[in-house]
Amino acid sequence: MLSDRSRPVIEATLPVVADHIEEIASRFYTHLFGAHPELFDGVFNRGNQAERSQQMALAGSVAVFASALVKTPEQVPEHLLSRIAHKHASLGIAPELYDVVHDNLFWAIVDVLGSAVTPEVAAAWDEVYWLMAYALINQERGLYSARGVAPDTVWRDWEVAEKIDETPDVVTFRVRRTDQRLVRTSLPGQYVTVQVPTPDGVRQPRQYSLTRADDGEYRQFSVKRVRGGDKPDGEVSNLLCDTVGVGDRLTMSAPFGDVVLDDSGRPVVFASAGIGITPMAGMLSHLTAAGSQLPVTLLHADVDEQSFALREQVLADLRSLPGSAGHVWYENGATGTLPVEVHAGQMDLSQVRLPDDATYYLCGPLPFMQAVRSALIEANVPSRDIQYEVFGPDLWQADLVTEPTPGTSGRHAA
Ligand SMILES: Cc1cc2nc3c(=O)[nH]c(=O)nc-3n(C[C@H](O)[C@H](O)[C@H](O)COP(=O)(O)OP(=O)(O)OC[C@H]3O[C@@H](n4cnc5c(N)ncnc54)[C@H](O)[C@@H]3O)c2cc1C
Ligand code: HEM
Repeated sequence: MLSDRSRPVIEATLPVVADHIEEIASRFYTHLFGAHPELFDGVFNRGNQAERSQQMALAGSVAVFASALVKTPEQVPEHLLSRIAHKHASLGIAPELYDVVHDNLFWAIVDVLGSAVTPEVAAAWDEVYWLMAYALINQERGLYSARGVAPDTVWRDWEVAEKIDETPDVVTFRVRRTDQRLVRTSLPGQYVTVQVPTPDGVRQPRQYSLTRADDGEYRQFSVKRVRGGDKPDGEVSNLLCDTVGVGDRLTMSAPFGDVVLDDSGRPVVFASAGIGITPMAGMLSHLTAAGSQLPVTLLHADVDEQSFALREQVLADLRSLPGSAGHVWYENGATGTLPVEVHAGQMDLSQVRLPDDATYYLCGPLPFMQAVRSALIEANVPSRDIQYEVFGPDLWQADLVTEPTPGTSGRHAA
């Protein structure tokens, strides 16, 4: 809760800070990495920096948090904080680093806004920063403690036991533990951060969703090569697919992630596109391992059957669940040999009967998730029943803080 002294200052300066927040975030990162180049070794994702998506995510999150403090002080943006805290925990971020970020962020605020940052303005924004920082630090402490790890012990080495070509572009890695320490179980839908050494000597972290329920010995994840087109090819996905083989070691974090299966007993609908199948595969595997009786509907869109990664595993799991149903949409036409209903073109929810009172999980490219979410909201599904996983810094979140009322299409019409 903001103090009475700071609230009017934040209200008055929010528009100017919001107008410059992306510039502040950009200056902040340049300054931070200038002073701490070691943060590119195993901590920050340089692909996201090059694409500027992390700058935008940081800027958006601070703007959303500050405006929530003045507009809806009784309601903290929990989903936003939880997403960030899980990402931080998967990277082993320690509380001490919040001072480093603070100092560099406030340097950037003064650098961009100059004399507008009076001592009174600086003190009010300092309060916002520490309210957000402590909310995150506390959540992260809880996450580390629930996993039985500390920031510097989230990492562990695994050995690649199997490398499976799923499709021309997707490779599955099955890794085995390398010591007798207990393997912490993941919740269905969670991801790990994998740290991969790169040719220039730094380790680069990337997140990958777990695609199978834990068995105490192995973990499994699947990687899609990112082809750059007119931009550079993806760094880590191609390194993993091309250079990491059976017998090699990989450093991976404990599992984290806030988009996890709700075990409230309600029907579940998974809607995925392309590599977005991975968290769904993990959740289906958990449901199968638990002998679940939940009615599950899988909706998946892909280019064609050959591009549908993990299809055998996913459909075998689906078949083992009583009352389950599967539908796929292929851009290249409704042909395939799998025992599911095949449709041509883009996913179209009007072609399927959705169960009443279901919870929904979405994963795939942002335009796909925006279209599916809009269609669900249009069909009167409450927005609290729709969760989604973004494979990158979440730039959608800021928009969603002003939730559309159920029954309206919101801002993201298909
Ligand atoms: C929670 C979560 C779960 C995920 N789960 C999975 C999963 O199960 N499977 C999976 O395959 N992926 C998953 N991802 C995505 C994964 O973490 C990586 O982002 C993905 O593998 C791409 O990493 P990369 O290093 O290959 O690409 P990067 O090198 O990070 O490149 C990313 C993009 O930036 C562009 N880029 C890079 N450098 C520049 C530059 N200098 N200028 C302009 N553009 C540039 C590239 O062209 C590319 O489009 C997940 C992500 C998250 C956050
Ligand atoms: C109040 C302070 C902070 C805020 C508001 C903040 C905000 C964010 C946001 C919004 C994201 C993106 C989450 C997503 O994936 O959607 C993120 C990721 C990240 N944060 Fe923070 N953060 C803070 C403090 C820190 C600190 C202290 C560190 C330590 C150096 C840190 C390191 C990271 C890293 C490494 C990532 C992942 C970046 C990437 O994948 O590109 N953050 N943070």
